[in-house]
Amino acid sequence: MAVESVGVVGLGTMGAGIAEVFARAGLDVVGVEADEAALSRGRGHLERSLGRAVERGKLAPDEREAILGRVRLTTDRAELAGADLVVEAIPEVMAFKSALFDDLDRICKPEAILATNTSSLPVTKIAASTGRPGRVVGLHFFNPAPVMRLVEVVRTVVTEPGVAEEMAELARRLGKTPVVVGDRAGFVVNRLLLPYLNHAALLLEQGVATRDGIDTVMRQGAGLPMGPFALLDLIGLDTSYEVMEVLYDETRDRRHAPAPGLRELVAAGRLGRKSGHGFYGPEEAPAQAPPKGTPLTFRVVGDDELAGRLEAAGFKQAAEPDVLLHVGLAATGEREVRVNLVGEGVAEVAPSLHATAEGAADLMRVLGRTPVVCRQRAGLVAEALLYPYLNDAVRMYDSGYAGIEDIDAAMRLGCGYPAGPFEMLESIGLERVRDGLRELHAEYREPAYAPAPLLEELIAAGLTAFPRR
Ligand SMILES: NC(=O)c1ccc[n+]([C@@H]2O[C@H](COP(=O)([O-])OP(=O)(O)OC[C@H]3O[C@@H](n4cnc5c(N)ncnc54)[C@H](O)[C@@H]3O)[C@@H](O)[C@H]2O)c1
Repeated sequence: MAVESVGVVGLGTMGAGIAEVFARAGLDVVGVEADEAALSRGRGHLERSLGRAVERGKLAPDEREAILGRVRLTTDRAELAGADLVVEAIPEVMAFKSALFDDLDRICKPEAILATNTSSLPVTKIAASTGRPGRVVGLHFFNPAPVMRLVEVVRTVVTEPGVAEEMAELARRLGKTPVVVGDRAGFVVNRLLLPYLNHAALLLEQGVATRDGIDTVMRQGAGLPMGPFALLDLIGLDTSYEVMEVLYDETRDRRHAPAPGLRELVAAGRLGRKSGHGFYGPEEAPAQAPPKGTPLTFRVVGDDELAGRLEAAGFKQAAEPDVLLHVGLAATGEREVRVNLVGEGVAEVAPSLHATAEGAADLMRVLGRTPVVCRQRAGLVAEALLYPYLNDAVRMYDSGYAGIEDIDAAMRLGCGYPAGPFEMLESIGLERVRDGLRELHAEYREPAYAPAPLLEELIAAGLTAFPRR
């Protein structure tokens, strides 16, 4: 069955965007809202989004009219009777969704496919509230739907053969990249992303580095489009908290228990951008780099190239230096500072309990790197946040939940990451990540930080990349 007419229920942030995506691809859309006021807000979302596209020269005015002409807006669900597919995008409350699906099941023709855009509720449970569970799937679009290319197509154990594939084909027709996965809390993207964000909130609570320091390491150092706290503010701390709860409910992995700091901020009404204040306040200026310090004598243990570059910059090596830089090694003594270079732009600087960070931070600035002061904890910030995420991706693949290419594509397209986790793992080096995980595991004794058996297996076999099918 080729899908030609589509219903979208709920025209909020997501639904309005989803209706636009279908109409742009030439499908007829019936958009349903709860009442007239919400319907006119939904119409507003749609018209503004298309208006912006026209202003930017990305859409001709007559195309906008044609797209709007394909969308019929109503408050009457009965108008969904002829739809080949209905996508639900109402609020994330199970009782609302099951009541709606029960009703859609009665209204829609028996062969119609019913889809939910839920981020975290079990699709299987939503399917079970209908008399056609085999034709109910998840179609998880990302925000903003007209821009983000990823769609997670979620099939359940009772989905009829061919239905998920048909939805994947439809997603391609919309210009999207589908990833077909099973019904596990968080699917691919939220399952890998949210625990990383939660972990960042825990590192902040433990005082391993500051909010700005952690965001700088991940953005400027690791090359991600945003630091974890800027991203938490964008997603919404309440939404993030709820997704963590759902993940924890399913996995009972204590790393998935929401960080207490998130709960506190949510309770205080600091929800992120939507409330004007989250981890960041409304008008906070980015932190200014302090002025450069005076030249120092130095010694480097563990990185000859770094020593050479500091000499080239005019600093003198000395047996009893002002600063003793330990690259990748624990710093314990007086004036000893552990340094970890992250990407091209950042240096994590972690002084021993007998030392201060300033001298080493100045040296890093001279080399053009932003210093981020950390407490000396395993993995400092970058590795502590990145390596468990990479390990989770390996375990996800090894569990048979999703393929390597799918996981990589999901994280690139769903989060705007420059590379997927397997691509990152291979470019950092399997052994280096494994060794970093061992260090994290030895310190935190967190079972999930133990290197995934598949990672150990590949290294033992002498491989430097994951075999692609
Ligand atoms: N916001 C995101 O970033 C995002 C991303 C992916 C998925 N999702 C999921 O998409 C769904 C919708 O989220 P949202 O952010 O668009 O919410 P939203 O609150 O912006 O929009 C929900 C809309 O549904 C309407 N609605 C409520 N009950 C209805 C009913 N019975 N019939 C018709 N319309 C009804 C509301 O009037 C509102 O306009 C949720 O399941 C959410 O988890 C959200």
